[in-house]
Amino acid sequence: MADNTAKQLAPELPDLNAYWMPFTGNRYFKSHPRLITEAKGMYCYTHDGRKLIDAVAGLWCCNAGHGHPRIVEAIKAQAEKLDYAMAFQIGHPTVFELANELTDMAPDGIDYAFFVNSGSEAVDTALKMALAWHRLNGEGHRTRFIGRERGYHGVGFGGISVGGMSPNRKMFGAMLPGVDHLPHTHDLAHNAFSRGLPKWGAHLAEDLERIVALHDPSTIAAVIVEPIAGSAGVLLPPEGYLKRLRDICDRHGILLIFDEVITAFGRTGAAFGATRFGVTPDLMTVAKGLTSGAVPMGAVLASGKIYDRFMTGPDGAIEFFHGYTYSGHPLAAAAGRAALGVYRDEGLFERALELEPVLADALHSLKGEPNVIDVRNYGLLGAVELQPIEGQPTARALGIFRDCYDNGVIIRTTGDTLAFSPPLIIEERHIETVVETVRRSLRA
Ligand SMILES: Cc1ncc(COP(=O)(O)O)c(C=O)c1O
Repeated sequence: MADNTAKQLAPELPDLNAYWMPFTGNRYFKSHPRLITEAKGMYCYTHDGRKLIDAVAGLWCCNAGHGHPRIVEAIKAQAEKLDYAMAFQIGHPTVFELANELTDMAPDGIDYAFFVNSGSEAVDTALKMALAWHRLNGEGHRTRFIGRERGYHGVGFGGISVGGMSPNRKMFGAMLPGVDHLPHTHDLAHNAFSRGLPKWGAHLAEDLERIVALHDPSTIAAVIVEPIAGSAGVLLPPEGYLKRLRDICDRHGILLIFDEVITAFGRTGAAFGATRFGVTPDLMTVAKGLTSGAVPMGAVLASGKIYDRFMTGPDGAIEFFHGYTYSGHPLAAAAGRAALGVYRDEGLFERALELEPVLADALHSLKGEPNVIDVRNYGLLGAVELQPIEGQPTARALGIFRDCYDNGVIIRTTGDTLAFSPPLIIEERHIETVVETVRRSLRA
């Protein structure tokens, strides 16, 4: 049945009934619709005539801003020239060019790109690569994965198994067997209102030694973490933490996977979180900013150590029985090349780094506002954590989200945390408007 409330609000709306929306309160949405009909640069325009500053870059993805002309043109030109090329046993030039450009940006030693269509697919692909790599090394007994509490690695069965957000897991049965989790690193008692990386907590990485000892290193294939946990509320790694994880993995022959679906492409003020933190994993997963959100695409970036081991069977034999119909799709590859070109030619990663203190000052000025219990920032990523309303978790943050939307700003909430990850083209005046809108909502 169509929802008449929605139709009355805006007669030009389509019937909202049939679309089952992802990660959305469908019934609430359909009686309070929020539809974006156009977007350009820093702004989104809605069905009911609003102009909103986008303070989350879509969903942490439109790093070059919306509708960048160079990306739009590249997609158009590619669509006219080549809509699709078979992805298995046949290729097309654009995707090879993209792989070269992407691996050129990656930390030294990360030399290969395997394309997929989303962050979730990238994670499942990386987990499969890790298992297969150990098997090729004669260590097929390494089948366990270690994720982290409050980690988000998408919604495939692999991703929810290593992920650590219980609402995303609890309805879906046993998932992958043999997965354990590190403790998360979020600790308000020690680190509330830290600017940049928290000083306390590197020792939490040592828990990996405990878990490794429990299961025995010979059973563990890989550790997977986000360098900064995004979806669980922008949880920052304590100083030195990631390096310790790397060292422990090396000690025990365990692969380290960084899930950089949010942290790549300038979000931290560098090409990748790995670049900024100076810690190189064996495998990296990326998506979102790879095409600046314009066409779905993800990738697993792999070190030579991984790739070379696969390239050993009989000549002509398939080395990795995995891939997708749309792996390296021409439109996505064209959008990816254009996005990387924009990042490079417009200096957007450097810009993100320059604006880091501006965003930090603005967000930290919210300390002392009603119900603010923490402020976190790194690169062009930020969070404001709120005291939950007793007995109504998430309600306070959702209220602020709705109020900000009504007042011209799109933010994102997760639990009772407000998250900020604006396009890297953001200007100081936008940051000021965003933060003052949030301040007014908090006071209201
Ligand atoms: C770190 C991380 N990994 C994986 C994903 C899943 O990406 P997708 O929604 O494209 O499947 C996300 C999405 O937010 C993410 O933040």
